[in-house]
Amino acid sequence: MKVPFLDLRAQYHSIKDEVDAAVLKVLESTAYASGPFVEEFEKNYAAAHDVTHCVAVNSGTSALHLALLALGIGQGDEVIIPAHTFVATAWAVSYVGATPVFCDVTNDTYTLDPLKIEAKITDRTKAIIPVHLYGQPADMDTIMIVAEKYNLRVIEDAAQSHIAEYNGKKIGGLADIACFSFYPGKNLGAYGEGGAITTNSDVLAEKCKLLRNHAQPVKYVHTEVGYNYRMDGIQGAVLNVKLGHLANWTELRRSVAERYTAAFSSIDGLTPPKERDNTKHVYHLYELGLESQEKRDKLMEYLQSSEVQSGLHYPIPVHLQEAYRDLGYKAGDFPVTEWCADNLLSLPMYPDMTDEMVEYVIKKVTEFAKK
Ligand SMILES: Cc1ncc(COP(=O)(O)O)c(C=O)c1O
Repeated sequence: MKVPFLDLRAQYHSIKDEVDAAVLKVLESTAYASGPFVEEFEKNYAAAHDVTHCVAVNSGTSALHLALLALGIGQGDEVIIPAHTFVATAWAVSYVGATPVFCDVTNDTYTLDPLKIEAKITDRTKAIIPVHLYGQPADMDTIMIVAEKYNLRVIEDAAQSHIAEYNGKKIGGLADIACFSFYPGKNLGAYGEGGAITTNSDVLAEKCKLLRNHAQPVKYVHTEVGYNYRMDGIQGAVLNVKLGHLANWTELRRSVAERYTAAFSSIDGLTPPKERDNTKHVYHLYELGLESQEKRDKLMEYLQSSEVQSGLHYPIPVHLQEAYRDLGYKAGDFPVTEWCADNLLSLPMYPDMTDEMVEYVIKKVTEFAKK
């Protein structure tokens, strides 16, 4: 049986009529860039996260860039981010001329380790970007206590965690501002690129709206250097349709995760992901830990030979990327991050997986582990 890592076509076919109608409506209306379909999506997305504002943009990376600009972070500033994340978290810090300061993650949830943040704070530190990685919220209570103590701004990188929950509240409004990605493979994915900023601050929302549209409060009047980070009308319409299915899709993801974890917990040498008691993990990715890099790579090969696709998120930590060589980090600086890069394997995880597919993945992983 073939089990792809992701099957975006299956998802499209499950909502084809709704999506096709919504896209045709945009084509007829000619509202191709920004416009009413995007505004409707912003209203619904803000409501889904219990926040007052959503500003839709053209990618998660743009969302992070605008969030940092809106908070006034720039040249000479430092921003603390986890070393274990997708590289875009760091890009945005670099775009504004600030320096990303990497910090390790916890060995159970793989999110920013709040106990290691204080040691990274200097008089140049302006902000922290916790990443709700793989769909699990970071330990926001402890992070916010550190941030308050040192008067730091906090940006949630929620690119992988749409409608995840922390202490019974949706993420997206837990800090100053939050950033989401709608890259096609995300839990809520556009049919192209997309992203959003959520916040409860009127001032920050206004600033992001201004900057995403050429800093143009009135047509052809530009009050500062702006950007073209607007969302396309078609993406707004598609995302609106898909948002209506997100809660159901999230439960389906959670039930796949539950079945994986029930099967793998009792097997020596396999470490399933841990879900913190006070969080609702939305399983953008299901990360299985192996005892060594060699075992992880062998399992990947074994699955491949059984037609099960798996993935690595992320095989080279950000502090060891060539792009950041000038910052002077070295192997061994962040042991948990480096363990994640070497030992974690992402298993197929999407709402359209059939029972047979889930059983087949479990069978193949178990066969390998017991060999
Ligand atoms: C943690 C994280 N941050 C930021 C991004 C950037 O989002 P995008 O690819 O939409 O620019 C992504 C997604 O790829 C991500 O996973």
